[in-house]
Amino acid sequence: MEVVKAFIFDLDGVLVSTDEQHYKAWKSLADCLGIPFSRKDNEAFRGVSRMSCMDKLAAISGRQFTKQEKTDCATWKNEQYRRLLDSLSPADLSPDVKTTLDMLRAGGLLLAVGSSSKNARYILARIGLGDYFDAVCDGTNIAKSKPDPEVFLKAAQMLKVLPSQSIVVEDAVAGLQAAKAAGMTACAIGGAISSPLADIRIKYFSELVQYVERINDEKVF
Ligand code: G6P
Ligand code: MG
Repeated sequence: MEVVKAFIFDLDGVLVSTDEQHYKAWKSLADCLGIPFSRKDNEAFRGVSRMSCMDKLAAISGRQFTKQEKTDCATWKNEQYRRLLDSLSPADLSPDVKTTLDMLRAGGLLLAVGSSSKNARYILARIGLGDYFDAVCDGTNIAKSKPDPEVFLKAAQMLKVLPSQSIVVEDAVAGLQAAKAAGMTACAIGGAISSPLADIRIKYFSELVQYVERINDEKVF
């Protein structure tokens, strides 16, 4: 690949473990509606927009929901989710993530968030990264959510870098699909690690620093 100029990070499940709170909130809704919903079902909810998740839940139920019912259900889910986020604090940002971000930045790389979430800015503020990133592209400024590449292409535009100079870090298959469709390098972590779509697989965030050094052939720190 070309010289790496930027990283675009997914938020939920990558920078912070809010994927568990998403699962719990969808599970509460499913229980209220009498719909069976497992952690396995939740895998397909990673990375995709709230309304797409609601469409998937409706499909699992096999029932017909009106547009208004779906909107009301998704709003209710978000209320549960926001309540679960109340306890989020800077302590939820792992030292491995923060140290790696700082090292990448010190090495001259641009850093962005590319998330489908409309709660992204709220979450970033809660974990102490409110003003940290060079760009934040999230569910509030995109028309199509992952696996569409829009969120990552917009983030790269905001950073003024080419897709081929950008690495996306993702924990969702939909996110890896979006990164590849954008023409970017796809780095998988966590839940997406076994996907064949990944160009790079990391167990720990800190591995990103060595990766960039190899490609750019210079010390990042
Ligand atoms: C992330 C999560 C998804 C979630 C989406 C929208 O991509 O991985 O599970 O559905 O954001 O989140 P929101 O906070 O807007 O409901
Ligand atoms: Mg994610």
